[in-house]
This record gives sequence, C-alpha cells and structure tokens, in this order.
Amino acid sequence: MRFLDRIEERAGAAELRAASYRMLALKRGAACVDVACGAGHAVAELSGRGLKVIGIDPDPDAIAAARERAPGAMFHVAHSDALPLEDESMDGYRAVRLFHLLDDPAPTVAEAHRVLRPGGRIVVGGQDYGFVLIDSSDQDLTDVILLGLESRTASPRAVRTLRDVLLDAGFQDVEVAVHTEVVTDYHLMARQLQAAATAAVEKALITREDADGWLAEQARRGRRNRFLAVLPTLLVGARR
Ligand SMILES: C[S@@+](CC[C@H](N)C(=O)[O-])C[C@H]1O[C@@H](n2cnc3c(N)ncnc32)[C@H](O)[C@@H]1O
Repeated sequence: MRFLDRIEERAGAAELRAASYRMLALKRGAACVDVACGAGHAVAELSGRGLKVIGIDPDPDAIAAARERAPGAMFHVAHSDALPLEDESMDGYRAVRLFHLLDDPAPTVAEAHRVLRPGGRIVVGGQDYGFVLIDSSDQDLTDVILLGLESRTASPRAVRTLRDVLLDAGFQDVEVAVHTEVVTDYHLMARQLQAAATAAVEKALITREDADGWLAEQARRGRRNRFLAVLPTLLVGARR
C-alpha cells in the first residue's frame, strides 16, 4: 500500500486522476464505480466532488486503506469481471492502471457495459509499457531492459487495445487522450529501474554486468540531475 500511495501522491498522478474525472464528466449526485481502486485516492476525490462512489478491488488490504481514506464511500472486495452491482445501475465507470494486470481485457469491459446505464460514461486507461522513454548513453541496452520491465506484467501493452475493446463491446464516441509524465527525480523511479534490469537478467536478455553498469549510469545521472524518464499514460473515454 505504501508503494501505491507513493505513486498516487506524485504530482503527475494527481493530474492524471483529474484528467480522468474531466473525461467522466459526471454531475454531483451521479453514481460512479472506481474499479481497481487501490488505496482509494480517486474514490476520496470523487466523493469530495459530490458523487456517490463505490470502490472495488480484490485486495482486502487495499480496500481497508481506501475505507480509511474515503469513509463516506461504499466498497466491495471483488474482481473487475464479476462486479457485485446491478445491471445499468451506474452513471460512471472508472478503471485506471488495471489492464496491464489482466490476461484479457474483454470480460472486464463487458462487465463495465453491463453495470453502466445507457448514456453512462466510462474511462479506462493506464500506462502502456511499450512506450516508456528513458535517457541513457546506451539506448539499445535501455530498450532491452525496458523489455525486462514488460516481462514483469501479464499484458504490458494492453492499454493500446482499449479503444478497440470498447468499440467491440458496443461503447460509443470513444476518445483517446495521452497524459505524459516527465520524471527527472531518479529516486522516484529507482525501484522500477532495478526491477526492470533484474527481470532482463532473469530472462537472459542481458548479463548481470550489463545490468549493473546500466543501473550505475542511471544512479550517476540522478546524482548529477541528468535523469530523464517520460511515461505516457492513455485514458480512453466513451459513452454506453
Ligand atoms: C497499480 S494498482 C492501481 C490502483 C489505482 N487504480 C491507481 O490508479 O492507482 C492496481 C490495482 O488493481 C487491483 N487489481 C488487480 N487485479 C484486479 C482485478 N482483476 N480486478 C480489479 N482490481 C484488480 C490491485 O489489487 C491493485 O489495487
């Protein structure tokens, strides 16, 4: 949960959440479900905007943290493909940074379609690991290490398919927006860089020596204020 909190408390994460609320375009009093709500930042903010919010996550620890953050909201421990909600009961549906974890987005999107009322709004999205950019003196090695990062998630490039998946499920007026976060603070990314390099070694894409050399360069860049990562996140909005 501390990890999720750290991510959600970054300025870029707050801007991304705000962009998702603008895309939802819901009025006060509307009923909205935030699926994969994690530690409940979005649930708390949407509740603060006067919406009736339901947070859903399969992790009971996440739900406990979210309940503390948003005591006025309702929560369920459940998976995205089996929501404990009535048909056509929601005005809004939000699921951000979920789809890279799923083997198949279609059952989750079909479930969103079931619980939204006709005319209701959906916003889904997250990071597509296929277009992360990291500056380095060895770009080829960096590309291979980013493949290591991709190998750590079930569907690292799922987010680019969401427009297609929403259209297949019958959603209308599908729009895609890109929110780009520029990170120059090495410490915000250090853990992910180490995990990516280690995964690339474990996949036998590079040697441990390559990984250590690359990590040392990134740490040096951090010390000299030369670290740069660019992380685009897609938000896909539509109408039921
Ligand atoms: C990276 S966090 C994202 C949390 C939050 N949406 C955010 O943007 O910060 C992913 C969340 O998805 C939840 N999750 C994983 N599999 C899920 C599933 N099948 N259905 C719903 N949530 C799921 C995890 O428990 C975790 O809280």
